[in-house]
Amino acid sequence: MAGGGDRVARLLRQLQRAACQCPAHSHAYSEAPKHAALRTTDYAFEMAVSNIRYGEGVTKEVGMDLQNLGARKVCVMTDKNLCQLPPVKAVLNSLAKNSITFQMYDDVRVEPTDQSFMDAITFAKKGKFDAYVAVGGGSVIDTCKAANLYASSPESDFLDYVNAPIGKGKSVTVPLKPLIAVPTTAGTGSETTGIAIFDYKELKVKTGIASRAIKPILGMIDPLHTLHMPERVVANGGFDVLCHALEAYTALPYNMRSPCPSNPINRPAYQGSNPISDVWAVHALRIVAKYLKRAVRIPDDHEARAYMHLASAFAGIGFGNAGVHLCHGMSYPISGLVKSYKAKDYNVDHPLVPHGLSVVLTSPAVFTFTAQMCPERHLEAAEILATDTYLPLDQFTCN
Ligand SMILES: NC(=O)c1ccc[n+]([C@@H]2O[C@H](COP(=O)([O-])OP(=O)(O)OC[C@H]3O[C@@H](n4cnc5c(N)ncnc54)[C@H](O)[C@@H]3O)[C@@H](O)[C@H]2O)c1
Ligand SMILES: [Fe+2]
Repeated sequence: MAGGGDRVARLLRQLQRAACQCPAHSHAYSEAPKHAALRTTDYAFEMAVSNIRYGEGVTKEVGMDLQNLGARKVCVMTDKNLCQLPPVKAVLNSLAKNSITFQMYDDVRVEPTDQSFMDAITFAKKGKFDAYVAVGGGSVIDTCKAANLYASSPESDFLDYVNAPIGKGKSVTVPLKPLIAVPTTAGTGSETTGIAIFDYKELKVKTGIASRAIKPILGMIDPLHTLHMPERVVANGGFDVLCHALEAYTALPYNMRSPCPSNPINRPAYQGSNPISDVWAVHALRIVAKYLKRAVRIPDDHEARAYMHLASAFAGIGFGNAGVHLCHGMSYPISGLVKSYKAKDYNVDHPLVPHGLSVVLTSPAVFTFTAQMCPERHLEAAEILATDTYLPLDQFTCN
């Protein structure tokens, strides 16, 4: 490896060790492994699956799923903007058709904070729900994961499960209630991950909770919902997908990550790039190359928006196992230190830097830097993004 490549690898290793500083997408467990074996780098990786159901109009099945689960009291979570829009109506219709009793929480904050998480947790604790449905973007799905976790562990302090050093980074050992996520944005892939991110106001930083235990039992991807997104929400979500894919593909490889765990329970969810995550990341990248511009510019381009919705899940599965690195690491101070910036097309009354925007801002500098470590991967990604070689929809067959 060239000298510049060594420098990049060294920095990425340092990032891992300081993973608690950048917890939401780090390569480490929240709790540091207690017994590292003698071997310094890992030799294995593990692929965690995510359950996805995809189809136009598939939201109509959610009431049946809840019935199949035997749910008697369901919490439906969303934000104030979405509760007026068709995605939430589609969920409520399905619940009504299947006689599911539910309570609605529509106070999710776009780009959640510790306080907004706690408000949702209080609601969930009072409600004693036996299942959750999150209808929305990453903000809603993440808030619902946290509400489910703390309502299932009512004696815990808020900071118990928050990643160290801000929180205690405790492992989740309590059983959670089933959560079905209905993503309405094409960006975070939160329906596939065990991550919940929030803005910790006191320290002006974003941090999170990371545990496989909080992952939704099902991500119900209904591309019809993406047709309601305003242009900037599509663009910023698309940037998030782009960076998830690129960062997962160029993350420090799993067999360069240290320490090598002495017990597989200590192998982190975010293990570094590996041959299986690579497949998901590259596939997501090809879709972004072909469809992102169309999805942004042509609001009724069903095909482009549907593919971006899938790409979001593909990249989520990729980075959910490989992790991401510098673009995401540097996005947290960018969005955490926001003072007055009002994001176009975000129907909210507080300043915010949308997550996808905060991530993509540093990407040219990041990939110029990391290219020294694995130039062939960067060249491959550049080639995918610059040329139009992706197969059109009608060339995909299931037989
Ligand atoms: N859990 C994870 O794995 C993960 C990964 C990346 C980012 N995140 C987090 O997710 C959050 C961002 O989520 P996001 O980018 O999905 O957006 P969001 O949930 O913050 O929503 C953005 C805006 O779009 C609106 N909106 C959403 N869907 C819509 C639709 N179909 N039609 C019309 N309006 C719609 C919302 O009401 C809101 O105003 C951030 O807090 C970020 O840190 C989580
Ligand atoms: Fe992201």
